[in-house]
Amino acid sequence: MATDRIETLLDEQRRFTPSDAFKAQAHVRDTSPHERARRDPEGYWADWAKQLEWSRPWDRVLEWKPPHAKWFLGGKLNASVNCLDRHVRAGKSGRVALIWEGEPPGEVRRITYGELHADVNKFANVLKGLGVKRGDRVAIYLPMVPEVAVAMLACARIGAVHTVVFGGFSAESLRDRINDAGAKILVTADGGYRRGAIVPLKQNVDEALADTPSIEHVVVLRRTGQTVTFKTGRDLWWTELMARAPKDCPPEAMDAEDPLYILYTSGTTGKPKGILHTTGGYLTHVYATTKWVFDLKESDVFWCTADVGWVTGHSYVVYGPLALGVTEVMYEGAPDHPGKDRFWSICAKHGVTVFYTAPTAIRAFMKWGTELPARHDLSRLRLLGTVGEPINPEAWMWYQEHIGGKRCPIVDTWWQTETGGIMITPLPGVTATKPGSTTVPFPGIEAVLLDGEGKEVKVGGGYLAIPKPWPGMLRTIWGDDERYQQVYWSKWKNKYFPGDGAKRDEDGYFWILGRVDDVLNVAGHRIGTMEVESALVDHSAVAEAAVVGRAHDLKGQALAAFVTLKEGRQGTDALREELKNHVSKKIGALAKPDDILFSADLPKTRSGKIMRRLLKDIAEGRALGDTTTLADPAVVAKLRDQYESQET
Ligand code: WT7
Repeated sequence: MATDRIETLLDEQRRFTPSDAFKAQAHVRDTSPHERARRDPEGYWADWAKQLEWSRPWDRVLEWKPPHAKWFLGGKLNASVNCLDRHVRAGKSGRVALIWEGEPPGEVRRITYGELHADVNKFANVLKGLGVKRGDRVAIYLPMVPEVAVAMLACARIGAVHTVVFGGFSAESLRDRINDAGAKILVTADGGYRRGAIVPLKQNVDEALADTPSIEHVVVLRRTGQTVTFKTGRDLWWTELMARAPKDCPPEAMDAEDPLYILYTSGTTGKPKGILHTTGGYLTHVYATTKWVFDLKESDVFWCTADVGWVTGHSYVVYGPLALGVTEVMYEGAPDHPGKDRFWSICAKHGVTVFYTAPTAIRAFMKWGTELPARHDLSRLRLLGTVGEPINPEAWMWYQEHIGGKRCPIVDTWWQTETGGIMITPLPGVTATKPGSTTVPFPGIEAVLLDGEGKEVKVGGGYLAIPKPWPGMLRTIWGDDERYQQVYWSKWKNKYFPGDGAKRDEDGYFWILGRVDDVLNVAGHRIGTMEVESALVDHSAVAEAAVVGRAHDLKGQALAAFVTLKEGRQGTDALREELKNHVSKKIGALAKPDDILFSADLPKTRSGKIMRRLLKDIAEGRALGDTTTLADPAVVAKLRDQYESQET
């Protein structure tokens, strides 16, 4: 996609400057914070950290022993205290924290900071009662219900490390994550709602737990009400435990560098990486970015549409907004249920003022038509955001006009599971935006473009790199520090490699082009091609598989799989369906290939390496690139003819 995109982007010379009205009320109105942060990054971040509550101040802001950083050394704090207790103590216990909207229409719960605080205390006691100690891991496999935030904050309160597994992941994915983290407790629900259907979470759990020796107990929340099987002694109902739990749970004083959570994400190998985030730096980073990027005030109603199973949900549904003490919307279900205007009806009903979503969703809204948002009163919206993948300028313009009524600035925010918080982003009251550009680094963050040799590219294309440690950065990969060093820090000396290609224009603005490794971004979800390939070859009919991404107008990228079958197996439509379902069972529906092409051979170099670039050309119907290094050039031509003629 890279070169096509550069061209479309270069056409876009449009700039949007914040209106005087927006500027007048914004937290940040000029670039002095950028300058301040450049002069004294540690002092700048320390000022942010001072806005949090610490039970012991830090002795030192930063220790950088590449590639390991520690922030706020010696400081002690508790994330749940920062998200709850201090607001309650400040007299804000009656303030609504979560406006929760269930997927079945009409189901709304308003949960105040006081109520959330009470539930978190009780659930923290539940966990303690089940033997959870500081440092233990707790897996969470829940739908988007308030209890997911309760469970996360309860872990934080007692110093347990949570690992949230997205409800769309399969039993096997759940099992692997539980085992990698060595989780002692699993918190789940009977099921979750998705497009009116029930996702059988507990059933998946039962399957996963056939092979998870570390799990001692399962706490089950009743959400959908269908019958589930219960294993006596192991499985316990949420409500029953909560009814018996003591009210107060004193928070653990955590070291700034104590782990807060592990979140798994895909990489270039078959095995997901457990990204480890710690407490003090992470909270400082998400607090700062929530406040300045989303310009949040007491009067706002914030809505980040991400599921808590992804990092966006961790940082901008749970920790950031709650640390800031704002009111936010949390929605359980799909954007098109029961109607394709569900998001706009929620915005209108709850008076959402700041809305943060993904480009893939915006492209779906575009397809569904302008009449849907036009039916609802979106006049309270004042700021829009996007994250997860490059946004095409057309989608940006549509968002600006039809959702933002041409009055809302748009913040296109670049970051990753690994960065913990937003890294490259406009500040809405300051930065002139250009559709498709994530603009400039957040104050206190540095970003550069490097070429293959590590030389800086001031204007032009290159690899994105982060040359300095930042507070929310991952500390390691859980249980595999060697992989941490190798994946992120071995490309250049002491500079973080995010795996993205980017372009920088004359104004110093960044235009993210997408991944440069074997990682795909399908509808804003990160999927490693190797993971899907391993799932395919796990099927008894498959000899070999290669998976590539091809451009897709809604999802950004779609998965195209080239599959070689074992001797004697026929590539039928039924087998194609079976393979798609097999991947879905192994990983989750989000990794289901869109196309499967059966092929007797795959294009390989003479040393046996599959030429993914050529497969991508074929899948995207492009003229074939250089095939001279191939062991058997005829394979490619054959494949292309097949791709064009065959149903995939
Ligand atoms: C990858 C990270 C961070 C939350 C969601 C995804 C891509 C992210 C943008 C953006 C262009 C973006 C990058 C990055 N990405 N935001 N604003 N513009 N690309 O988290 O699953 O860790 O994926 O998403 O390729 O590396 P993630």
